[in-house]
Amino acid sequence: MTAKIIDGKAFAAGLGDRIAETVTAFTEETGRTPGLAVVLVGTDPASEIYVRSKGRMARKLGMESFEHVLPETASQEELLALIAALNADDTVDGILVQLPLPRHLDSLAVVEAIDPAKDVDGLHPVNAGYLATGLPGLVSCTPLGCLMLLKSTLGDLSGLDAIVVGRSILVGKPMAQLLLAENCSVTVAHSRTRDLDYKVRQADIVVAAVGSAEMIRGDWIKPGATVIDVGTSRVIRDGEKRLVGDVEFAHASERARAITPVPGGVGPMTIMSLMHNTLLAAFRRSGRVAPQLW
Ligand code: GUN
Repeated sequence: MTAKIIDGKAFAAGLGDRIAETVTAFTEETGRTPGLAVVLVGTDPASEIYVRSKGRMARKLGMESFEHVLPETASQEELLALIAALNADDTVDGILVQLPLPRHLDSLAVVEAIDPAKDVDGLHPVNAGYLATGLPGLVSCTPLGCLMLLKSTLGDLSGLDAIVVGRSILVGKPMAQLLLAENCSVTVAHSRTRDLDYKVRQADIVVAAVGSAEMIRGDWIKPGATVIDVGTSRVIRDGEKRLVGDVEFAHASERARAITPVPGGVGPMTIMSLMHNTLLAAFRRSGRVAPQLW
């Protein structure tokens, strides 16, 4: 079997078109444009690139983008004061604080200070609680993007055996909740899991989110399984710099029914899910029902 390559770039582009159309309609109807505020503390080069690309994408889709950069030395109080101002600002529908924060800042307290209705990262405990109880909230962007790709590939996920490798607050835990809500039987594996290969071999759906280059071997993949690879690691292969996922792609794609490539799979979906969440937050904050865009 040769796996179908799940084209996240193409899916994200299509979703982006639908978001842009809906932003135009929302703006015409309400007289205001959905707005996303992105907060960066410090000068981490990777974070600077992410923040810039989020702002650029928001503007490309017709939304307002507010970028706030605080110095590396910013205090917890300064950051909390900025969050309070963004919470109170009616032109801001979504707030994202780029992580990781400098070590002297308390990330959890910062996330908890964000109005849950504007928490487009889905990281606030209220949104995590909504997800766990099946209530409508805002769902973390990367797992939401993975779910969109899974549903577009497989349709109904009911009854499938899924394994999520990784238990982070940003990806693994919300991913497991989303799959459970789709009626999958879900195993969550992590660094202390025993017999990981045995557990992966049972799964119809594998979501790999550990950030360890090619640690999931191709021969662990059950024939016909669908593989979503969240990991991105920079490695040197044959003297060349390459980006690889958590799954050994070449071998896995000989067994899987469908698989996401790295790059071009989950990556483009994360930023588009953020745009989706910002628009969704704008609809809800204006008392309107958002159309289903995926
Ligand atoms: N840093 C890396 N990924 C993310 C993300 O999804 N959200 C935030 N806020 N920071 C990140």
